[in-house]
Amino acid sequence: MSFPMQRMRRLRRSAGLRSLVQETRLSAQSLVYPLFVCPGWKVKDEIQSMPGNYRWSVDSLVEECKSAHGLGVPAVILFGIPESKDEVGSGAYEAGGIVQRAVRAIKKELPDLLVICDVCLDEYTSHGHCGVIRNGEVDNDATLPLLARTALTQVEAGADIVAPSDMMDGRVGRIRQELDAAGFTGTAILAYSAKYASAFYGPFREAADSAPKFGDRKAYQMDPANQREALREIALDVEEGADIIMVKPALPYLDVIALARRQFDVPLAAYQVSGEFAQIEAAARLGWIDRQRTILETLTSIRRAGADIILTYYAKEMASKLG
Ligand code: PBG
Repeated sequence: MSFPMQRMRRLRRSAGLRSLVQETRLSAQSLVYPLFVCPGWKVKDEIQSMPGNYRWSVDSLVEECKSAHGLGVPAVILFGIPESKDEVGSGAYEAGGIVQRAVRAIKKELPDLLVICDVCLDEYTSHGHCGVIRNGEVDNDATLPLLARTALTQVEAGADIVAPSDMMDGRVGRIRQELDAAGFTGTAILAYSAKYASAFYGPFREAADSAPKFGDRKAYQMDPANQREALREIALDVEEGADIIMVKPALPYLDVIALARRQFDVPLAAYQVSGEFAQIEAAARLGWIDRQRTILETLTSIRRAGADIILTYYAKEMASKLG
């Protein structure tokens, strides 16, 4: 049966019809709000390339979390900007580290807000790499215990989920082992499984002052050209104990999200990263695109491709609109 019996436009005639047959629906429940925490008191320091996003001191961060949670944001993911950085990223795994302090403060005031902690050394190392440097290279195996310690101190502080984003081999298994040995068998791991070496992290690196001081991240993050490799990365993380997997960035990698959705049964997250956010903001400021419609369209596309969970700098704004 085809035209004129079949007319696709029949179900597009009114807003009511379109809404009835809508296949993908966004809701605040699946959004995670990324936040940056820094030392100080009453700090709310805007990130230049990420308008509307700030470096918050712990006290202001708690207020921002209250406001986001009040609007329906179910979860936040925290990134730390430490007082000082060193060769081995000590600030990431100190019990009194900036993120650990932030988690304690948030959980005390908002026990129901899910707190996810990014596990990585790059914000804490003086050289800006995600691991320990040996002979000019990021040493995989020497980095694993530090990542495990980072995750453990975050969970001890009250984190609900830990999210390794470093792309070292074997880190999910190593973190699982560390948490289990300490009795945290019930704490989930969200693995940044397919994380690409992307130009879209630019604004984040300004925010966290975490750009590598030499070289780049291509020896550990994935080549944007590769799709099959992403599926291998995910399979390994699931085997090592990842409870949730992630593809990052989101919009340039919708094919990877769609494939991951089909091949794996675990919950799937996607990260609409800082550069995706900045592109929309910049074009909207120039009046070249409709900001609201672009935000909705990109988030809908990420959901349509198969992501259950979306990490997005628009989480708070969208929660207030979507409910
Ligand atoms: C690593 C990390 C990065 C992002 C999240 N975790 C930066 C990087 O890999 O360089 C980027 C997120 C974004 O761009 O919004 N700790």
